[in-house]
Amino acid sequence: MPDAYGLFGWPVHHSWSPFIHGMYARLTGQDMVYRLYESPPERFRSEVLGFFGDGGSGINVTLPHKRAAADLVNELTPRAQLADAVNTIFRRGEALVGDNTDGVGLLRDLTANLGLRWSSPRILVLGAGGAARGVLEPLLSLGPSELVIANRTPDRARDLAREFATHGPVRGSGFAELEPQPFHLIVNATSASLRGEAPLVPIDVVGTDTTCYDMAYGAGDTPFVAWARRLGAARAEQGWGMLVEQAAESFEAWRGVRPDTAPVLEALRSRAATAANTRS
Ligand SMILES: NC(=O)c1ccc[n+]([C@@H]2O[C@H](COP(=O)([O-])OP(=O)(O)OC[C@H]3O[C@@H](n4cnc5c(N)ncnc54)[C@H](OP(=O)(O)O)[C@@H]3O)[C@@H](O)[C@H]2O)c1
Repeated sequence: MPDAYGLFGWPVHHSWSPFIHGMYARLTGQDMVYRLYESPPERFRSEVLGFFGDGGSGINVTLPHKRAAADLVNELTPRAQLADAVNTIFRRGEALVGDNTDGVGLLRDLTANLGLRWSSPRILVLGAGGAARGVLEPLLSLGPSELVIANRTPDRARDLAREFATHGPVRGSGFAELEPQPFHLIVNATSASLRGEAPLVPIDVVGTDTTCYDMAYGAGDTPFVAWARRLGAARAEQGWGMLVEQAAESFEAWRGVRPDTAPVLEALRSRAATAANTRS
């Protein structure tokens, strides 16, 4: 029987993960299946334990369960501990280990796929939820002169900045308090795009040298990417690359092989473009 993997979330029917992991399995010759599990919060814990009790090999976890997954596992990797959220669970002997591959996925997309390099950049992270928390440490590894977390609810940004104060030059802010000065990199880690909105951020934070990166992705420009293009940002990118890179990191944790992400990213982009053309 092939080894069983899957994605637990609520909802997950829209997920690209079976396509991505299916391609990784074919490219690396792995005998495995990857399925979607619609798991409401009240059933998440019992369903995950049931999956592993039945011999399942590993899972991804997505909204709204990344915090609950951190409480469920026996051990956390250091980066999952820092993120206080788990998107990948694998077995180590009898133990279930929780990992967080979102941050490394973003970093790899920015540096390896998009080829971006900065010296002491000013970085703005929009949002203070699980995704923002998971990427703070990797973004601080870029050696920013300053990393500002701005959130719709400013106190959440300030609390998060305080937690990471020993890791680098981080401060928290509300959207309206942001100074009118362009950043080198703006990462949208809010879920505003899911509601068809861009976060209400002053336009002066975007300059002609600014790279705007939306962790969200979709067929056609997300609202944040469209906003960044209108303002003349140097680059405006969606989170497809982060998606395939975080998945590759999970795949390697489960199977011990690193898949080539380039053909998968190309296939996803081409499917998204076809979907966008079909809609227009
Ligand atoms: N590409 C990838 O591989 C990848 C990986 C992980 C996550 N993501 C994406 O990252 C996004 C955030 O996920 P998450 O887990 O951090 O969610 P979350 O924990 O629910 O946090 C949501 C954040 O978005 C803010 N927000 C929601 N609606 C907003 C609006 N209309 N305007 C401004 N801010 C708004 C919230 O602000 P308040 O605190 O004020 O409520 C909060 O900071 C999602 O779109 C998710 O799909 C992508």
